[in-house]
Amino acid sequence: MGINFHLTGKTAVITGGTGVLCSVMARELARKGVRVAILGHSGDKAQVLADEIEKDGGRAIACNVDVLNLESLKKARQYVVDKYGTIDILINGAGGNKKEATTSEELSFFDIDIDALKRVFDLNIMGTVLTTQVFGELFAKTGKGCVVNISSMAAYHPLTRTIAYSGAKAALSNFTQWLAVHFNQNYSTDIRVNAVAPGFILTNQNRFLLTDENGNPTERGRKVLDKTPMGRYGKPEEIAGAVLWLCSDAASFVNGAIIPVDGGFSAYWGV
Ligand SMILES: NC(=O)c1ccc[n+]([C@@H]2O[C@H](COP(=O)([O-])OP(=O)(O)OC[C@H]3O[C@@H](n4cnc5c(N)ncnc54)[C@H](O)[C@@H]3O)[C@@H](O)[C@H]2O)c1
Repeated sequence: MGINFHLTGKTAVITGGTGVLCSVMARELARKGVRVAILGHSGDKAQVLADEIEKDGGRAIACNVDVLNLESLKKARQYVVDKYGTIDILINGAGGNKKEATTSEELSFFDIDIDALKRVFDLNIMGTVLTTQVFGELFAKTGKGCVVNISSMAAYHPLTRTIAYSGAKAALSNFTQWLAVHFNQNYSTDIRVNAVAPGFILTNQNRFLLTDENGNPTERGRKVLDKTPMGRYGKPEEIAGAVLWLCSDAASFVNGAIIPVDGGFSAYWGV
């Protein structure tokens, strides 16, 4: 009885599972007794992470997918179902920005390659839609499930320079709300769809924007820190904490929500 944060025995599929944020989610979910299916993109990183989790006493399997490729997603779904029987949680973590789709002193808006914009746009929104079509179909059939998307501060107000990324994350937050309603109205009221919107965590996708070659804050990095009332970057564990809560029954009435995990960034106008 009481509030139930337990996750033991559930199965979670995590795209972008080898990335900075989602690898920590995978480890933390496994530590809570969740069987994790780490969906990597290429190479053996996903398998290496799964092996490490198993060595630490958790349950994990791995395979590679392209979240923009339907066949690879369907194969992954079959693989996870064959291994674990059911899927309870889908975390759509694959995403990110690219330098070629970001305006800079060297690259004006007028010179940005449309294909670079499309790649960033597709990865951050279409990759999540397609993945949710494939895995969400199981939730619609069983009448149970939990989806967590990874949005961004760029979804609330566009960040300067990151044109496609901001637009795609805004669409992703919108899709999160749309899908929550759609699942409840058409399939089951036991399916929840939410997102976390991380503030600024120093990772490969934004390091070139936030720090110089000596590791000192760029002007943009300084602005971010000044506009974050807590005065620091977040840690991957701090994003994982919110995701674990969203996946648990402690969040059983949280649905269609975009949860900022941002040290107060979105609460502060800078004045
Ligand atoms: N780092 C931040 O400050 C921050 C802030 C807000 C939101 N986010 C979001 O969090 C999520 C995770 O980002 P991260 O910072 O851990 O970045 P990351 O680059 O470490 O992880 C992204 C992962 O996506 C995978 N990926 C890329 N293209 C793919 C494809 N076509 N198919 C399958 N997988 C693919 C990569 O292999 C990588 O493992 C992303 O959606 C990102 O936009 C990050």
